[in-house]
Amino acid sequence: MESQVSEQDMEGSSSFSFVPAEKLELTDECHHYEHKSEVPWDIQKYFSQRYSIFSWYDEGICMTDDAWFGVTPEPVANQVASDMAKIDAKKRVLIDMFAGAGGNSIAFALSGRWDRVIAIERDAATLACAQNNAECYEVEDGVITWVHGDSFVYLDTLLKNPDSLHPDLRVGVDTSAVFASPPWGGVGYSTDDVFDLYTMQPYGLKELTEAYERFEHALYLPRTSDLRQIAKLAPQGTKIEVVQYCMEGASKAMVAYIPGKNEST
Ligand SMILES: C[S@@+](CC[C@H](N)C(=O)[O-])C[C@H]1O[C@@H](n2cnc3c(N)ncnc32)[C@H](O)[C@@H]1O
Repeated sequence: MESQVSEQDMEGSSSFSFVPAEKLELTDECHHYEHKSEVPWDIQKYFSQRYSIFSWYDEGICMTDDAWFGVTPEPVANQVASDMAKIDAKKRVLIDMFAGAGGNSIAFALSGRWDRVIAIERDAATLACAQNNAECYEVEDGVITWVHGDSFVYLDTLLKNPDSLHPDLRVGVDTSAVFASPPWGGVGYSTDDVFDLYTMQPYGLKELTEAYERFEHALYLPRTSDLRQIAKLAPQGTKIEVVQYCMEGASKAMVAYIPGKNEST
C-alpha cells in the first residue's frame, strides 16, 4: 500500500501527539556501577547478578536505580522473544508498552522477527538507559523506534485518532502485537501465595486488558499470578497460553499469550 503521509505531516512533526524520541542524554540518575561499594544497599543483590541480567554489562550498560527491580533478565527476555516470534507471521511490528531499561525490547530487536519494535517508556532517564543499552548490544539503528510518553495514551490515540501520531508510530491492529511488562507494585510486590492481578499497582489486570484487548498481546506477570483470572480473559472460542520462565530452577515470571478480540481481517 502506498504511504499516506503528506508533506504537511513531514514538516510539522511538532504538531503530532506522539513522535519518535530523539537520542536522550544520560542523566545523573543513570549509572554504570562498577563496584559493589558504589551501589545502594537495596540493589546490591541485583548488581551481583548483573551478568545474568545483561551478559554484556561491561560494554557500558546503564541503569537507573529503580530499573534494576523491573528489568527482565537476558535469558528470560531471549526465551520470551523466541516464543513471541511464533505468533501469526502477519504481525510485523511489536509494541513494547513498558520499555524500562530495554531488557525485552533489545531481545525482540535482536530476534530479527520484527520489522520494527516500538518501545515506549515514560521516564526520561530510564529511556536514556534503554537507548544506551540497545547501543551496547549493537541493535541496528531504526529497528527500535523509541517513544517517550505514556503507553496507554499512545495506544488509545493509535486506536481513536491515528492521524495525530507521527507516521512512524501509526501501525495497524492486524499487523502489530503488544507486549507488556508492567510494574508489579514495587519491591515486595506480593507475599500472597496467589497474586491477585486485579490489585496489581499501579495498573491492575482490568486496565491492562481493556487497553490491549483488540491486539494479540502478551502480559509479563508475577510467577504466582492467579491463573483463574487469566483464563477468563480468553476471547470466546480461543485459548490462552501461559508459560513460566525459569532461571536456575526457579520461576522468574509468567507470560500469558492472549489472542486479540475482534481483530478485523
Ligand atoms: C517492569 S519495568 C519494565 C522492564 C522492561 N521490560 C525491561 O526489561 O527493562 C516497567 C517500566 O514501565 C514504565 N512505565 C510505567 N508506567 C508507564 C506508562 N504508563 N507508560 C510507559 N511506561 C511506563 C516504568 O517507568 C518502568 O520503567
